[in-house]
Amino acid sequence: MSDKFTWLEGIPVLTKCLSPKFLTGEWRDFVFREDDVLILAFPKSGTHWMMEILSLIRTKGDPKWIQSVPIWDRSPWLEAKNLYEALEAQEGPRLISSHLPIQLLPKSLFTSKTKIIHLIRDPRDVLVSGYFFSKIFSYTEPSASLQVHFERFLQGNVSYGSWFEHTRGWMTMRGKENYLMLSYEELRRDTRSTIEKICQFLGKTLEPEELNSVLKHSSFQAMRENKMSNYTLADGVFVNLKNGSFLRKGISGDWRNHLTVAQAEAFDRAFQEKMAGLPPELFPWE
Ligand code: A3P
Repeated sequence: MSDKFTWLEGIPVLTKCLSPKFLTGEWRDFVFREDDVLILAFPKSGTHWMMEILSLIRTKGDPKWIQSVPIWDRSPWLEAKNLYEALEAQEGPRLISSHLPIQLLPKSLFTSKTKIIHLIRDPRDVLVSGYFFSKIFSYTEPSASLQVHFERFLQGNVSYGSWFEHTRGWMTMRGKENYLMLSYEELRRDTRSTIEKICQFLGKTLEPEELNSVLKHSSFQAMRENKMSNYTLADGVFVNLKNGSFLRKGISGDWRNHLTVAQAEAFDRAFQEKMAGLPPELFPWE
């Protein structure tokens, strides 16, 4: 890994993205509030999709907010430069996003009633999505090949470290009242029911037409066209969209189009070993 990364308790995070509070250790004092909602996901698991859905649930399906405010200001990143400060100053219920592993979350999270939505995705799709993202992201070198990216991913030498440890770590929250684990796959398979599940968890009720509007405006196509969500506002700054789209394919199982049989088998072996002991039904993909 290059010097572009800062190691936070052994976890590599891109220095350019990181709030200085994470360098000074002040992040430990961040205070979560009981009306906060935290979206937690390893990069490329559909974090932005969840940010869009939660934004729309908050406005009861009214798209004005998502069409006028950039996604990163609606649900700021806990670990990001400037956004951390904005979060601290924000009044009222906050939507907060993070890719951090559980051990890097401020302790106040674990004594507050903050609702945590942890989104997981088939790590093979996370890997492939991350490989293509490396071609458009300005702050990292593009991975030289899928094989190089594959090896780094398995070794945990990618931004935010090991998917396996990250996922195992957050899964220790299972059973807690304020923790909901969802998968990208169920969200794709049955978006409506999954949004209903989210509403129930948040204690929100949507009228049928409001739910329809959440569905319509958080669809892959709608998000691709929404300049507040598709990263065109950041083009030339931290992304280069001439090399690809931020909202790339939005499907499950794309790994089948990219991984070789040998890679898929090696991945499977690593998965079995690293996720041993966890019930297979936690991972709703084939
Ligand atoms: P692909 O690269 O496989 O298309 P993150 O937000 O965590 O960076 O995740 C990005 C992935 O989520 C990308 O996957 C992106 O296309 C997908 N995604 C974003 N919005 C989506 C939506 N509305 N529906 C389906 N997938 C979406």
